[in-house]
Amino acid sequence: MRIVILPTEVEASNFAAEFITEFINNNKNPVVGLATGGSVVMTYEALISKHQLGQVSFQETTTFNLDEYLGLAPNHAQSYRSYMNRTLFDHIDIDPCNTYVPECFDDNFDSACSSYENEINKRGGIGLQLLGVGSNGHIGFNEPTSSFQSRTRVKTLTKSTLTQNARFFEASENQPSLAITMGIGTIMEAENILLIGLGKHKSKAVADVIEGPLSAFCPGSILQNHPNATIVIDKLAASDLELYDYYIQTEKMKSKYNC
Ligand code: F6R
Repeated sequence: MRIVILPTEVEASNFAAEFITEFINNNKNPVVGLATGGSVVMTYEALISKHQLGQVSFQETTTFNLDEYLGLAPNHAQSYRSYMNRTLFDHIDIDPCNTYVPECFDDNFDSACSSYENEINKRGGIGLQLLGVGSNGHIGFNEPTSSFQSRTRVKTLTKSTLTQNARFFEASENQPSLAITMGIGTIMEAENILLIGLGKHKSKAVADVIEGPLSAFCPGSILQNHPNATIVIDKLAASDLELYDYYIQTEKMKSKYNC
């Protein structure tokens, strides 16, 4: 695991945007896995700026989102499809036909989930997967005790996730308690993974992901087993790390010796 600790949330987000830009610019027909939520908003803003400055084009890029609420129409303001259009896709030159979100519009969940996996495979697999992390350690909507082998499927959201995400819904709106999510096995097949964690409220989850035991109770801890996982965090999100100084030193050595 590469652990990058930067002083502020803005610097961590700029790092993530640069990481994604380099991936897109260095790959033909790049396939990028995307996340929603608060942690990635500044990363998307930075990507939009880079696009406006002519530093990155998304014309050849295909994206696959991690998850979507079950029961929200794509045009519902709180659907992850709407979030992605509003926060990123409407501002860049991506072909909307190349943007995938794991939606299901009837009760045929199994077929919706397996077609999503098939589509990822048809595109050659995910080259870079962007992740946030829930306060309970979830990645995608793989809640604690999700199997490390799991594939795209319907998950029941925990009370903690529902509470954490309630801020996005009006009091009068129905907040779904089910979602379709890529599985942990699906996420782990991405060639590269970039997880971003911002703020003090993520410090415990970040420490569990990086330094905790490998445990289904903290789904993100499986990233310790990924050969190309990078975690970018700001100082506050890093504040519970036991080996904080070591990670800072490792990055210094990396830039000094280019290793
Ligand atoms: C969203 C997703 C989730 C979020 C996580 C953190 O697509 O996959 O795992 O990344 O819940 O959410 P925020 O960033 O809002 O704290």
